[in-house]
Amino acid sequence: LNQGNGVKGLSEMGLKCLPDSYIQPLEERMCNSTTTLLPQESIPVIDMSKWDDLEVAGSICDAAERWGFFQVINHGVPVEVLENVMEATHSFFGLPAEEKRKFLKELSPSNNVRFGTSFSPEAEKALEWKDYLSLLYVSEDEAATLWPHACRDQVLEYMKSCEIVSRKLLQILIKKLNVDEIDESKESLLMGSKRINLNYYPICPNPELTVGVGRHSDVSTLTILLQDENGGLYVRGNKDDWIHVPPVRGSLVINIGDALQIMSNGRYKSIEHRVIANRSKNRISVPIFINPRPSDIICPLPEVLASGEKAVYKQVVYSDYVKHFFRKAHDGKNTIDFAK
Ligand code: SIN
Ligand code: FE2
Repeated sequence: LNQGNGVKGLSEMGLKCLPDSYIQPLEERMCNSTTTLLPQESIPVIDMSKWDDLEVAGSICDAAERWGFFQVINHGVPVEVLENVMEATHSFFGLPAEEKRKFLKELSPSNNVRFGTSFSPEAEKALEWKDYLSLLYVSEDEAATLWPHACRDQVLEYMKSCEIVSRKLLQILIKKLNVDEIDESKESLLMGSKRINLNYYPICPNPELTVGVGRHSDVSTLTILLQDENGGLYVRGNKDDWIHVPPVRGSLVINIGDALQIMSNGRYKSIEHRVIANRSKNRISVPIFINPRPSDIICPLPEVLASGEKAVYKQVVYSDYVKHFFRKAHDGKNTIDFAK
C-alpha cells in the first residue's frame, strides 16, 4: 500500500482515523505531557546584524548554555533563498509517487539520497507522522547528478548561503571554549560534513494520538533549521516543560547538537525536542545538520579541559555515534550515554 507516497499519500486519501501503526504510547503524546499552561519563557531571538559585537557573541553563548536553542534574524541569508528552498520542498513532495519512490532506500541511486517516512521504521514500535528527503552533501557533482531535480538547485543555493552564518556561529561558540581559530582539524571536527533534510508533516486525522517527530536531541555539532509559518516544534525547557518555538518570518532556528555538547564537555546543551502533528495544515521544515567528519574522533576539547576540568565524555568515533543513533527509535536524550 502507498509505497512512494508516504504519510502524505495516507493524508490525501482522506483517512478519517489514524492507522494503528502511528498510535504513540500515552507518555509520548503531547497532550499528555508536562506541557504547562503557565506563561512560558521563550527561547531567545538574536539579531546577528552586528555579529562581531561582544554583546551579540555573549547572547549566543548564553543561549547555547542555557537553552541549547535560539533563533537568529538578520543572519545574512537572503529571504528569497529561504523562500526558494521552501517552495522547492513543496515541489519535491508534490511530485507523483512514482517520482519520489525512486529515492526510497531500496531504489535510490545513492546511499546519500534517501526518501522515507518516520525516523527508523525497523526499530520503532510506533511510527512518526512525517515524510522526509535526506541529502548528504558530498560534492556539487554528486548533487547535480543524483539529487532530485525538483529541489536540487534551491537546496544547494540554500546550503551555500548558510555557510557564512554557520561558521560565524561556530567561531563565536568555540571562542568561549578558549579555542581561538578554526584550524584544519577543528574545521573537520566542527563542520566536516553536512546533511540537509526536507521534512513534510501532512495533515493528520488524529494529531493527538501521534507525533510528527518524537523526543530526541540532534547528533550534529550545530543544526540550522528553517520552518514555515505553521509551527509545532517544541523544546524541553529548564522547568521540564515544553516550550513552543514560534515561527518568526525570515529567522533561522539554531540548536546545539550532541557533538558540540560532547566537545564542550557539557557546557553547551543539546536539548531534547519534538514536533507535534497537525489537524489542518501541511507543515514543512528544512534542517541543515553541520556535523563532524564520520572518521573524526569526538571528545571534550583539550582547550576546555586545560584548566583541570574532568572529562565527562569519552572518545567516540563519530560514525559509530551516528550509527548508534539511527539503530534505535527516538528516545529522548539517551544517545549521549554512548559517549559516557
Ligand atoms: C527535527 O528536529 O527532527 C525536526 C524539527 C522540525 O521539523 O521543526
Ligand atoms: Fe531534531
